[in-house]
Amino acid sequence: MSEFKKVAGLTGMKDTLPPESAHWERLEALVRDWLAAYGYQNMRTPVLEHTRLFTRGIGEVTDIVEKEMYSFVDPLNDERLTMRPEFTAGIVRSAIEQNFLYDRPRRIYAMGPVFRHERPQRGRYRQFHQIDVEALGFPGPDVDAELILMLARLWRLLGLSDIRLELNSLGQASERAAHRAALIAYLERHVDVLDEEARRRMHSNPLRVLDTKNPAMQDMANGAPRLFDFLGPESLAHYQGLCARLDDAGVAYTLNPRLVRGLDYYNLTVFEWVTDRLGAQGTVCGGGRYDGLIELLGGKPAPAVGFAIGMERLLDLWLQDAPPPTPDECQVYLVHQGDDGQRRAARLAEGLRDAGLRVLVHAGSTGFKSQFRRADASGAIAAVIVGGDELVSGAATVKWLRTEASGESQQESIAFDQLAQHLKQRI
Ligand code: HAM
Repeated sequence: MSEFKKVAGLTGMKDTLPPESAHWERLEALVRDWLAAYGYQNMRTPVLEHTRLFTRGIGEVTDIVEKEMYSFVDPLNDERLTMRPEFTAGIVRSAIEQNFLYDRPRRIYAMGPVFRHERPQRGRYRQFHQIDVEALGFPGPDVDAELILMLARLWRLLGLSDIRLELNSLGQASERAAHRAALIAYLERHVDVLDEEARRRMHSNPLRVLDTKNPAMQDMANGAPRLFDFLGPESLAHYQGLCARLDDAGVAYTLNPRLVRGLDYYNLTVFEWVTDRLGAQGTVCGGGRYDGLIELLGGKPAPAVGFAIGMERLLDLWLQDAPPPTPDECQVYLVHQGDDGQRRAARLAEGLRDAGLRVLVHAGSTGFKSQFRRADASGAIAAVIVGGDELVSGAATVKWLRTEASGESQQESIAFDQLAQHLKQRI
């Protein structure tokens, strides 16, 4: 027993080990190909940013900024820093700072961990991963539709079912202001049914009050004035332009006038893809248009639209629908005897890798029996034996571990210099 006490990981922050990590890698590879098919290019921004980027970008009166950010003061220079709770603000900051936006519009994506101090449950973690996609400099609604059609394709590529699209339009600032005044007046008339959080937010962020999960407030929320009813002709035309393109492509959607999203930067199009098969955390993807954010963060005004997918949720759904086979560790496992045998096996292995095979050379225990147990457990198709007899004859013994690849013989002797070619033909 170690004299040291174990150090536990943090609540809500998961370790991902094989074989699950291989599913992540497969998903990431598939996602990169999918993004490339639409011309999206990768961008990498730091995990740490100034706190004010998020307070300004996401909004002071949002759950994320009020209670979910991992923020601290850097003791070295007294700066207030935050671990990114999302990608959008950082990507916009970078695009402005690096002057990346103004010569032509950009299609960008990022993938990686983000951090929110939420109460962990299935599908909700404190470190989680997003696939974040941003189209910078496009006024839409053609690009709004492109993003949604891309997502519909991803669900098809992954074989996902039971995932539905909810749409709304948050209009423009003037329409939101008119609606906001009507909504505050309505909330004031119903103040007796508002819970504490709703009362606190009714003047600062009344839209979010309608996003309540409190059952006692549902009737009040259902009867509230709808922002959608305050949209002017241009906002409606944008929404209809999007719907027409979704109809063209046969992508089904429902208008959800209550959909407001948890970040303040949105205008016009907002959308979420939801499923009932992930328990309480059923939103797989959320996004929308944020035409004011670039200016709000100090850039020359430019329109933009994007979304983020929660990768844990996507993977959960994918593994339910189309469980991929457990990946093997290697194709060929080299078993050996004695120091000379190990050295010959190691050299042979390099030759096999030159031929493009995935190869493990046994390391550790020396007995043949335990080496074969490891070879079996590795998922290898063939074991290659380099013992005393093989060193003398100059030919390895190949033992086919899976009958479907074995052809006629289970075991054969192949000259060392023929080995790579021979295995390559049969694997
Ligand atoms: P969001 O809706 O806050 O949007 O997050 C996007 C997705 O991240 C959610 O739909 C969900 O799948 C996943 N997610 C959120 N919180 C958690 C959590 N605690 N644990 C696991 N998964 C989670 C944004 O972040 C915006 N930046 C999206 C965007 C990009 N809008 C425009 N461009």
